[in-house]
Amino acid sequence: MIDQVQTARDDAVARVAAAASAAEVRALEIELLGKRGPFAEFKASLGRLALADEKKAAGQAVNEALNAVGRALEARLNELAATERLLQLELERLDLTEVMSRPTRGHAHIVTQAWQRLEDVFIGLGFQVAEGPEVETDWYNFEALNMAEGHPARGEFDTLFTDHGEPGTVVLRTHTSPVQIRVMQSVEPPIYMVMPGRVFRRDTPDATHMPVFHQIEGLVIDRNITLADLAGTIEAFTKAFFGGEFTSRLRPSYFPFTEPSAEFDIQTPSGQWLELGGCGMVHPNVLQAAGLDPEEWSGFAFGFGIDRMAKERHGVGDIREMYTNDIRFLEQF
Ligand code: FA5
Repeated sequence: MIDQVQTARDDAVARVAAAASAAEVRALEIELLGKRGPFAEFKASLGRLALADEKKAAGQAVNEALNAVGRALEARLNELAATERLLQLELERLDLTEVMSRPTRGHAHIVTQAWQRLEDVFIGLGFQVAEGPEVETDWYNFEALNMAEGHPARGEFDTLFTDHGEPGTVVLRTHTSPVQIRVMQSVEPPIYMVMPGRVFRRDTPDATHMPVFHQIEGLVIDRNITLADLAGTIEAFTKAFFGGEFTSRLRPSYFPFTEPSAEFDIQTPSGQWLELGGCGMVHPNVLQAAGLDPEEWSGFAFGFGIDRMAKERHGVGDIREMYTNDIRFLEQF
């Protein structure tokens, strides 16, 4: 019997050593050391041996075989785990020199680029830059801009209200025009100011609309300012921003905070007209709301969509493309 035990032990140790995976080792453990394994059978047959010495020697051989198989199982498991670790390390290896050899330098988003260029162009025309809060009171966003409660023009702004204060009194600003009021309240005229910023409307995204977009507001307050000054400024801006081959026009329109009001269009070198924003002479009620005497001061204001300008400048077909964060799109600019 001792010979049989030793043969079974050698056979078992060889099988364990040849196991190719941790799962295979675990299966072998059950097969070899389990209740139905060869060594369990040897143990059961010990009782059938007649001589005490024979029984003892055979029992020792079985225990020794069990220990040997146990050690082989453990050793093989450790070996396989080490190999698997090495393999995983190799797979997850990060070769920093690969990254270093291909530097990817980021750049400002095209809307930020347009925003910065707009500021540069207006500073070149003698304007200063101011900014206002994105969360506004109803008074700054509407009322001071000649849109009292219930004014039908409020309906044109799909407004997002916040939970602050009395319901319906604090909004995410729907345009940059409230900054006009803040500037007039804090700066003595003459004022030559542009006010870029983020604005919010409950607009459904499409090729030309986003619910979060950007505008740049312009405000000029001085003595004897006329519509001709507005038209001249818009034309000078168009040429400086888009290039000498572009021209502009004003088209009659309506805004409660300007009188008269106009839409500002630009003509591309191919002859196509594109609407970029609204403008007009600051309404006397607006001057009064901001604490200025309309008999003494006059001025003009304008508000352009920055996202649409970036879109036109780069020939982007759909404004939503600019906000999908697709690196392949953004890398082009
Ligand atoms: C206004 O917001 C006025 N405050 C502009 C103004 C200022 C008029 C000062 C007179 C004096 P309007 O809603 O038309 O006007 O928006 C101005 C520009 O913002 C549009 O011409 C367009 O370029 C851009 N715009 C409007 N809605 C969106 C939108 N959902 N997504 C992207 N751009 C938009």
